[in-house]
Amino acid sequence: MKTLLLGGAGFIGLHLARRLVDDGHEVSIVDDFSRGRNDAELAGLARDPRLGVQHGDLTDPATWRVLPHGWDRIYLLAAVVGVRNVEADPARVVRVNSLAALHLLDWLVPGERVFFASTSEVYAGALDAGIARVPTGESVPVTVGDITAPRYAYAVSKLLGEAALIHGARAKGFRVVVGRFHNVYGPRMGTDHAVPEMTVRALRGERPFRVPGAEQTRAFCYVDDAVEATVRLMDCPRAAGRIVHIGDDTAETGIADLAKLILRLTGSDADIEPAAGAPGSVTRRCPDLTLLRALTGYQPTVPLEEGVRRTVEWYRG
Ligand SMILES: NC(=O)c1ccc[n+]([C@@H]2O[C@H](COP(=O)([O-])OP(=O)(O)OC[C@H]3O[C@@H](n4cnc5c(N)ncnc54)[C@H](O)[C@@H]3O)[C@@H](O)[C@H]2O)c1
Repeated sequence: MKTLLLGGAGFIGLHLARRLVDDGHEVSIVDDFSRGRNDAELAGLARDPRLGVQHGDLTDPATWRVLPHGWDRIYLLAAVVGVRNVEADPARVVRVNSLAALHLLDWLVPGERVFFASTSEVYAGALDAGIARVPTGESVPVTVGDITAPRYAYAVSKLLGEAALIHGARAKGFRVVVGRFHNVYGPRMGTDHAVPEMTVRALRGERPFRVPGAEQTRAFCYVDDAVEATVRLMDCPRAAGRIVHIGDDTAETGIADLAKLILRLTGSDADIEPAAGAPGSVTRRCPDLTLLRALTGYQPTVPLEEGVRRTVEWYRG
């Protein structure tokens, strides 16, 4: 099996690469390292002759002109992600995420099989407007609350990618499945997202311990489970042309409770100081995974405490 991971040096990408190499795939990563790390873990994995890593900017047509075909599986993970990036430069988010998807659309040839990484952020407008219930299913109408708000730049760029690839698959004869990831966390995630961000501050000994969005809830999914769901969806013929949630619906966790867990696992007895959440962040989020289960038989296997323990150990170094 020959597999192409576009944006494969990032968080989900490298965990997926490791899993695919273990499964016997020949894996080629293309990444511009704008966020993905050319670190010891990637270098370690790249010592395996079944993994190749190539520098390439997927917004640049020149990258696509020299990219060969002949892959059994293609995953598009490349994107500008993270609240900080989205707030700092929403135009870059729209540009990079849209161009990567549109260049992929133009480049694909009949018969190829693609996974497109999308996001739970597409439901933010519907959740805010009270249109969507929690747990949220894929059939909820996606709503843009305020196109001028930086936060929507990310959701809109992903919706464009979904539409481009789903319609393009019909028109050009390739096969696509869209996975909408919900709060995936784990080792080597950077420091932008809730679990690693709080872990790093807890390990530094911050006190009192600031907890942005303390009253909010999320359903966190350990990265190994997300990778399992991703691989199963890619291999599932009935998933072709569909949009499917990827996450862990077994527990909806308050951010304050997550903070307490991280403090306990890092050995901190700091008091919690609740703070405002990121602008535009939803109050609750939990995926309905009925479709994912029906298509693939997936079941999350890593409970939050175990996943956070593994993550803390990685960040402890
Ligand atoms: N982690 C989550 O919980 C989550 C949730 C929802 C959606 N997603 C989606 O899953 C995908 C992977 O997310 P992640 O958490 O691994 O993010 P990440 O930032 O760690 O990985 C994205 C990778 O894309 C690369 N990249 C960015 N711009 C590029 C370009 N122009 N050319 C080539 N490479 C480029 C980055 O260097 C990085 O390695 C993204 O598409 C993201 O939107 C993730």
